[in-house]
Amino acid sequence: MSEKAPPKIVTLLDQRTVRPSSASLVLGPRQRVVANGLLQDTLHRPLRDLRISVTDRCNFRCSYCMPKEVFNKDYPYLPHASLLNFEEITRIAKQFVAHGVQKIRLTGGEPLLRKNIEILIEQLSALRTVEGAPLDLTLTTNGSLLKRKAQALKAAGLQRITVSLDGLDDDVFRSMNDVDFPVAEVLEGIEAAREAGLGPIKVNMVVKRGTNDHEIIPMARHFKGTGVVLRFIEYMDVGATNGWRMNDVLPSAELVARLQAELPLVALEAASPGETAQRWGYADSHGKHDVHAGEVGVISSVTQAFCGNCNRARLSTEGQLYLCLFASQGYDLLSLIRGDASDADIASAIGRIWLGRTDRYSALRSAQDPSSDSGKRRVEMSYIGG
Ligand code: GTP
Ligand code: 5AD
Ligand code: SF4
Ligand code: SF4
Repeated sequence: MSEKAPPKIVTLLDQRTVRPSSASLVLGPRQRVVANGLLQDTLHRPLRDLRISVTDRCNFRCSYCMPKEVFNKDYPYLPHASLLNFEEITRIAKQFVAHGVQKIRLTGGEPLLRKNIEILIEQLSALRTVEGAPLDLTLTTNGSLLKRKAQALKAAGLQRITVSLDGLDDDVFRSMNDVDFPVAEVLEGIEAAREAGLGPIKVNMVVKRGTNDHEIIPMARHFKGTGVVLRFIEYMDVGATNGWRMNDVLPSAELVARLQAELPLVALEAASPGETAQRWGYADSHGKHDVHAGEVGVISSVTQAFCGNCNRARLSTEGQLYLCLFASQGYDLLSLIRGDASDADIASAIGRIWLGRTDRYSALRSAQDPSSDSGKRRVEMSYIGG
C-alpha cells in the first residue's frame, strides 16, 4: 500500500544562511516598542503562540518532512555551537510572553533528542503570562522516546503532549517513518504519556492520498472514547524537499465525509481563537455530541487556510524568528542575544517585527491555482518546527 516519495527537489540555496541584519531592530528609547501584551500585526492578529524548535535533527525520515535522499549522512545539520542554549531560549521566550504569548510548543526535528530537554521545560514552566497564569506548555514528538521520558517531562512541568502518528498498520507506519520504527513502541509511548498525566493528549496524522488514507477509519476507531484527540492534517507544501503534489492531498471535506459514513459526527465550536483545527464530535444516537466518545479535528491548511487569525511565531534552533511556516527569511535574534542587547531591546525588536507582519501564505496560495508554487525557497519544517 505504501508508496515511495516522488523524485526530490534538492534545496539549491540554504535559506538558513540568508539573514537580514538585526542591528536595525534595536532603536533608541523613544522608538521602543514596550511589551504590554497588546501587540497586533498589520492584519490585527495578536501574538499568542510561540513554537520553539530545539533541534533540527530527527531519528525518523518521514518522506513529507525529512526525505532520506536529502537528509542523509552528508546533510549539514546545525553545529552545536550555533544552537541557542537553554538560558538563551528562556530569555527570548520571556520577552514573547511579555508580548502576550500564552502557549509555548517545543518542536524539532524531534525535540526529545535534545539532551536535558527537561531542564529547558523546568525553566519555561516558571514563566507567567501577562495575566499571571501558567503557560500552556506542550511539545510535539514522534513518540519514539516517550515511553522512557514521559514521567520526567511531566515532573519538569510539561502540561500536555502531541504525538505524530500516521497509521496503526505496522507496515504502513514503518514505511512512512522510513527507518522501520515499529508502531507498537509509539503506542506504548502514548500510554506512558497518559499514565504520566500529560493530557489532553493529541495525535496528529498527516494524510497522504494513496499512502495512508486507508488508515483514517482504523485510527478514528482506535482513539474514539480514549480521551485522545486525533487530528487529521492535510499534507502541505512546506519546505523545498518533499516533492509535494496536489494529487497527494486528501481535502478535509472528503475526509470528514468518509468518516461520517462510518462514524456520525457533529461540528463543534473552536476551543480557542486562532485554532488550527476544525473540531468534530462523535454523535450519540440523538445526533448530539457524545462527550465520552470524544472528538476529532481536521487541519486544512491547503484547502481552507486559517491565516486570518494566525497568532503563531516560530523560533528556530539557532535563534531566527519566523513569522510564517512558509517564510523564506527569518529575523536574527541570535546575534541580538549574543550581543549586548538588554531584555527591553529584545522585547522591542520582537515588537517591531510583529507590528510589521503581513504573512498569510496559505490564504494567498489557496486564492491561486492550488497546484502552483510561489517560486520562493522556503525553510524546512524540521528547522522551524511544525
Ligand atoms: P493545539 O494547541 O494542541 O491545538 O496545537 P496546534 O494545532 O496549534 O499545533 P500543532 O503543532 O499540533 O499543529 C498541528 C499541525 O498543524 C502542524 O503539524 C502543522 O502541520 C499544522 N500547523 C500548525 N500551525 C500551523 C500554521 O500556523 N500554519 C499552517 N499552515 N499549518 C500549521
Ligand atoms: N504537511 C503537513 N504536516 C507536516 N508536518 C511535517 N511535515 C508536514 C507536511 N508536509 C507536521 C506533522 C508532524 C509534525 C512534526 O509536523 O504534523 O506531526
Ligand atoms: Fe521527524 Fe516529525 Fe519530521 Fe517525521 S514529521 S521526520 S517525525 S520531525
Ligand atoms: Fe500562519 Fe503562515 Fe500558516 Fe497562514 S500559512 S496560518 S500565516 S503560519
